Amino acid sequence: MRQHWGSRIGIILAVAGSAVGLGNFLRFPVQAAKHGGGAFMIPYFIALLLLGIPLMWVEWTLGRYGGGFGHSTAPGIFHNIGNKNRFIRYFGVIGIFGPLVIFIYYTYIESWLLAYSFFALSGKYMAATTEGAMKSFLSGFQGLEQNQFFHNIGTAYFFFIITFCLNVLVIYYGIKGGIERLCKIAMPLLLVFAIIILIRVISLGTPNPEVPEWSIKNGFGFLWNPDFSALLSAKTWLAAAGQIFFTLSVGIGAILTYASYLKKNDDVVLSGLTAVGTNELSEVILGGSIIIPMAFAVFGPHEIINIAESGAFNLGFVTMPLIFEKIPAGAVFGFLWFALMFLAGVTSSVSLAQPAVAFMEDEFDISRPKASMYFGLAAFILCQPAIFGLGYGVVDELDFWGGTFSLVLFGTIEVILFAWVFGMNRAWEEIHCGADLRVPKIYKFIIKYVTPLFLIVILVSWFIQDGLPTILMKNIPPENRTVVLVLRLMLAAIFMGISLGVWAAWRKRGKKAEKEMLS
Ligand code: ALA
Repeated sequence: MRQHWGSRIGIILAVAGSAVGLGNFLRFPVQAAKHGGGAFMIPYFIALLLLGIPLMWVEWTLGRYGGGFGHSTAPGIFHNIGNKNRFIRYFGVIGIFGPLVIFIYYTYIESWLLAYSFFALSGKYMAATTEGAMKSFLSGFQGLEQNQFFHNIGTAYFFFIITFCLNVLVIYYGIKGGIERLCKIAMPLLLVFAIIILIRVISLGTPNPEVPEWSIKNGFGFLWNPDFSALLSAKTWLAAAGQIFFTLSVGIGAILTYASYLKKNDDVVLSGLTAVGTNELSEVILGGSIIIPMAFAVFGPHEIINIAESGAFNLGFVTMPLIFEKIPAGAVFGFLWFALMFLAGVTSSVSLAQPAVAFMEDEFDISRPKASMYFGLAAFILCQPAIFGLGYGVVDELDFWGGTFSLVLFGTIEVILFAWVFGMNRAWEEIHCGADLRVPKIYKFIIKYVTPLFLIVILVSWFIQDGLPTILMKNIPPENRTVVLVLRLMLAAIFMGISLGVWAAWRKRGKKAEKEMLS
């Protein structure tokens, strides 16, 4: 029996849960601060309208369509929209590979959030009062150095196991009993936590009365005053497009899978848009109002530039704990902040696990509990390089191939298949099947021409700017190259393994059909 969502709000919250994640609260503010502040919102909203929203509709529609044939993952879905051409299904491998690769490092980072929410309450990081000490605290926790805070990676590993088991357990209980139930609790809770923190941020005013210009108001100004010159750089546009992909979870393959559990006449237009709206609200309003303004008010205008440049991890795990040490009731707010991000993380990571599990269920008739267990075993082994190879740039490498490159490539493939192979007229009809809202007609043109072209331009400009140096590992420090090479071989093996799975699944299917014909 195919699984289905229990309610409409259930799938909207699940898709929004997949979308709302670390990208909203950490990645977005850093990208905006680095790429022109308020001016970043111009390419950001253009990418939202021309890439994010159309791809969201494409994935919901393709997913629901594929579900009608009993397929929840891209190989089967592409096979059906691609007139059963025997090669098209192999493009779908990326839609299982990408989320699996993200899952491998995302779950580990998620476990840091769980650990830090405990550290906030227990006061464990309070002993680190300077930036250097807090960095040391983080390095010790990650097992990169031995210091007075941590002797080994044991604590991090303990929290990783809890986080990992939680993810597998949710998947084990399935779409309705696991994912939907989790998102119905976690999503409202995380929004409440975020609003409480937001109120705290706004009420901070001027935390340091001796320097009145270090204020929350000026912090908002720092983040949002536009620097239009940033728009002249191709990097700003690429960063905006990349952020839209990452934050909405489009091009990953996860939403495709979630939508496959819809019923034929369930609306996708309004539901998809609602999920986008929820994500954008939490990204632009909540994500854009917390860390950067807060860091500005506590550390001042000079330090904030270094802080924004130092990247999302530093901001999340070094700057934020230091801020919570300095504000009244910081332990509680620290806990709320890390717990909110943990909830945002777990509702995203379960969506990254689901395609691989669904592939086993649909294409090999493996029961859900068994498929979850197989996934758990394989993913546990695959997570180890992210844990023990952190100091060698393993997470960055996984993030690049799984969390950046695969997304854009997969997004391009799915929109081309949808508009050009399935055909725009059929696609338009399919989008509107059971729809509560009509999509503005201009989107017929956008989905057919603008979105694919925009994506091809992104891929080509990436290749021209960074393609060869990335492939040849020119941007990787020489001492890390051997580890990165081994990791790339591992990724290639995963890709081949999934491709082999697709081959075997269709071979089995062919044999079964032959037998049925003969009998
Ligand atoms: N969309 C998820 C995030 O923003 C992956 O973190």
